[in-house]
Amino acid sequence: MKDQILADGVVQAPNTGGTTPGYMPGFGNDFETEALPGALPQGMNSPQKCEYGLYGEQLSGTAFTANPPERTWCYRIRPSVKHSHRYTKIDLPYWKSAPNVDPDVTSLGQYRWDPVPHTEDKLTWLTGMRTMTTAGDVNTQVGMASHVYLVTASMVDEYFFSADSELLVVPQEGHLRFFTELGIIDLEPKEIAIIPRGLVYKVEVLEGPCRGFVCENYGQKFELPGRGPIGANCMANPRDFKAPVAAFEDKETPSKVTVKWCGQFHETQIGQSPLDVVAWHGNYAPYKYDLRTYCPVGAILFDHPDPSIFTVLTAPSGVPGTANIDFVLFRERWMVAENTFRPPWYHKNIMSELMGNIYGQYDAKPQGFIPGGMSLHNMMLPHGPDKNAFEGASNANLGPDKLDNTMSFMFETRFPQHLTGFAADEAPLQDDYIDCWTDLEKKFDGTPGKK
Ligand SMILES: [Fe+2]
Repeated sequence: MKDQILADGVVQAPNTGGTTPGYMPGFGNDFETEALPGALPQGMNSPQKCEYGLYGEQLSGTAFTANPPERTWCYRIRPSVKHSHRYTKIDLPYWKSAPNVDPDVTSLGQYRWDPVPHTEDKLTWLTGMRTMTTAGDVNTQVGMASHVYLVTASMVDEYFFSADSELLVVPQEGHLRFFTELGIIDLEPKEIAIIPRGLVYKVEVLEGPCRGFVCENYGQKFELPGRGPIGANCMANPRDFKAPVAAFEDKETPSKVTVKWCGQFHETQIGQSPLDVVAWHGNYAPYKYDLRTYCPVGAILFDHPDPSIFTVLTAPSGVPGTANIDFVLFRERWMVAENTFRPPWYHKNIMSELMGNIYGQYDAKPQGFIPGGMSLHNMMLPHGPDKNAFEGASNANLGPDKLDNTMSFMFETRFPQHLTGFAADEAPLQDDYIDCWTDLEKKFDGTPGKK
């Protein structure tokens, strides 16, 4: 038991080390894990009496009849109804939900932001969330929101869950700990985490200040993309996704649980920690993924594939092949295509593209799109390489070339993204972004053979 004490009063299932969280590999596996021996019933879900006086409870992440259903059986000190009481509405003014169309804000445009700076304020996961864009409708469970988080303070005797959404977390700076009902995930830049809808957790700062990006998915859960002719290997491999082993705290202190529900926030007061799941089994769980294990596939002779070739995870909509959200990664890779304009081509897209820079330099925008910064190319708005990128790539000697020290991502959605007032007025918007294309010259010459 001694090597299972992760922190003061926190017991986790046996794993490789007592002082770090333990994980189980695989994407969407039917996991089982117990922090106390024999806590997990075998061969059935609802025994007449559970071991250790635990309560059995199912957490359903899909309809019972979905195919496949996603659900997890929890064996916990108290049932969740004891972690919920009367609710009081509260205001978190910077965390917005769709629809959030501000008539005074223009979302029609190409936008780019410098990193949102930290302030002197002590900000938690809840108070430090800054919504940049919203899309779709949280009430009908379609669309998404994008956020920047600025977190400097741990949640103490304070817990949260979102009934609205699954959260995809992309850290850019600092280390966070997500202590969830189903176990503990430590997260640092170059990793991502997925926190499922309905799961209670708290967020602690291991090393701050912390900044990063969040994609709040109102719709169907993220899944691995279909690989088509690529086949079974490369891109994101299932075993590189890690779900936490069971961990719980048996803590009898006055606590607060905040709930996000249909775009509103409410809180409820309870007398204990709700992170009391001693054992669980099922396929509805949080997980993390190391982006450095993403194996990019690309052009090995000529031309430039669509960026969908770099999809890490996709959240489907009701239209096959048209994602509610794609999470796309642009990381280190070799460029070898012959006789080819290698950066992303100019285009207009029905999908709306929100990008963030985790580190390094992005090939289509060598300047201005900096780590911690974001850009938005909204539905059907043209964009592409800036003048320098165009001239450089058009005149480069095309030997094998390593794009090194680069990691950016895209939250791409089938819905237009509306800027929040914060994104338009408070965040460090680059007013001159549109000018990066101003110097592109007319090069047309009707002489045959002229390039
Ligand atoms: Fe694009």
